[in-house]
Amino acid sequence: MIGTNILKFNTIDSTNDYIKNHLNQFANGDIVWSLIQTKGRGRFGNSWMSLEGNLYFSVLLKNYKYTNNIFILHMIISVTIIRLLKKYGLDAFIKYPNDIIVNSKKIAGILVETIGYFDNRDIIFGIGLNVNQNDFNTLNNLATSMCIETSKNMILEEVLYDFIKLFNEVSNLNNIREIYLNKSLILGKYIPYLNSRFYVKSIYDNGKILLINEEKELEVALSSISLSDIYNKLDNF
Ligand code: BTN
Repeated sequence: MIGTNILKFNTIDSTNDYIKNHLNQFANGDIVWSLIQTKGRGRFGNSWMSLEGNLYFSVLLKNYKYTNNIFILHMIISVTIIRLLKKYGLDAFIKYPNDIIVNSKKIAGILVETIGYFDNRDIIFGIGLNVNQNDFNTLNNLATSMCIETSKNMILEEVLYDFIKLFNEVSNLNNIREIYLNKSLILGKYIPYLNSRFYVKSIYDNGKILLINEEKELEVALSSISLSDIYNKLDNF
């Protein structure tokens, strides 16, 4: 269960970092939410622009049962956001592993971080969901928001509570992978890999992708694929 306690800030450096730096103050499922982040972080060391108007929050999962297979958590979070957006009338898709896309533009990003070693590991996952931002300037052809897509402003607190409710529901589903695959943008597509053309046959629970072509079948780990390269070439491949 997440969301029993929510600690809200007006401005903070990064909600993920706040939990990481105050770990002893928080219990399993606690949430830190901030209206603005001054040092919001994205994946691959990128920064996450965090102006007022969108949702920026992080969740602590203590001794999470899937710590040995983080990808299941990626699927749960992605499916939760897909369902949340559906509630607001938006049809969203997943850009592997976990970017959430509406009308070919990114609407949400997910940062999952593990703390500790072996049996004593906690997870902090952070979500940046574009809610009320109506202009992304130079990024307008890459990013979108719920407000741009629906022409309506949302109440951030309501959207956060929707996320919490849906996450708790989705965590108990036993067909998460099936729903995730249904919304995947690369499953069933041809992608460039090792100077060849491969068909994406499946994505496994451990996050590996099954690729096939006329000559071989490959199971590829996330790190060994250049994701941006794939997506840049996907449309005209
Ligand atoms: C991505 O690169 O797509 C992931 C972006 C994750 C951003 C969120 S905003 C709330 C939380 N705090 C952070 O510093 N990052 C995550």
